[in-house]
Amino acid sequence: MATLRGLRCRFHTNAGVFSPGGIDRGTELLIETMKLPAEGEVLDWGCGYGPIGIVAAAIAPGCRVTLGEVNERAVELTRENVRLNNVGNVYVARGDLFTWLPDLTFDVILTNPPIRAGNRVLFRLIEDCAQSLRPGGSFWLVGRRKQGIATLARKMGRCLADVQTVAAKAGYRVLRATDPKSIWP
Ligand SMILES: C[S@@+](CC[C@H](N)C(=O)[O-])C[C@H]1O[C@@H](n2cnc3c(N)ncnc32)[C@H](O)[C@@H]1O
Repeated sequence: MATLRGLRCRFHTNAGVFSPGGIDRGTELLIETMKLPAEGEVLDWGCGYGPIGIVAAAIAPGCRVTLGEVNERAVELTRENVRLNNVGNVYVARGDLFTWLPDLTFDVILTNPPIRAGNRVLFRLIEDCAQSLRPGGSFWLVGRRKQGIATLARKMGRCLADVQTVAAKAGYRVLRATDPKSIWP
């Protein structure tokens, strides 16, 4: 049980997935900070067992939230957690987002990225997300200062517009940037 954005949420987890002992502190900071439109397409990139996307769907019922994840067990847990939390406006998809993301577009992309995968993977994630944002869309990423979030902020600055730190707590930062196409057509 966790209280996120004032909502009582329940999550089943499992040893094989990210942060099985409870909501990660970075994830929680992103959830508490994220701003969503009244309607539109939202992506939770690398949803794990689903906390970011499930709360997004609950607080923005006019949006459709896609929760994408490569880990099969995490996807099963996300589907279970979607049912547990009674959210209907979601699409849960298993797959490598590097292969199918470029074909889709979103108004908001949210991610607590797989930091241990290294900068080559993280830079590709940022590039793909920048390409997949709709005009006026926003990209939100949480990370830890000591795990190199400054490097990711610089990469975001090369692919996206108006990169800002919108929250900082206990060594974590939430970065938000906007679609570059609306500024540099
Ligand atoms: C730091 S975890 C965050 C999980 C969840 N969003 C949360 O905040 O609890 C990053 C997630 O990205 C997933 N991931 C890594 N590479 C991926 C890929 N290529 N496509 C989709 N998901 C991926 C991992 O399996 C992991 O669940």
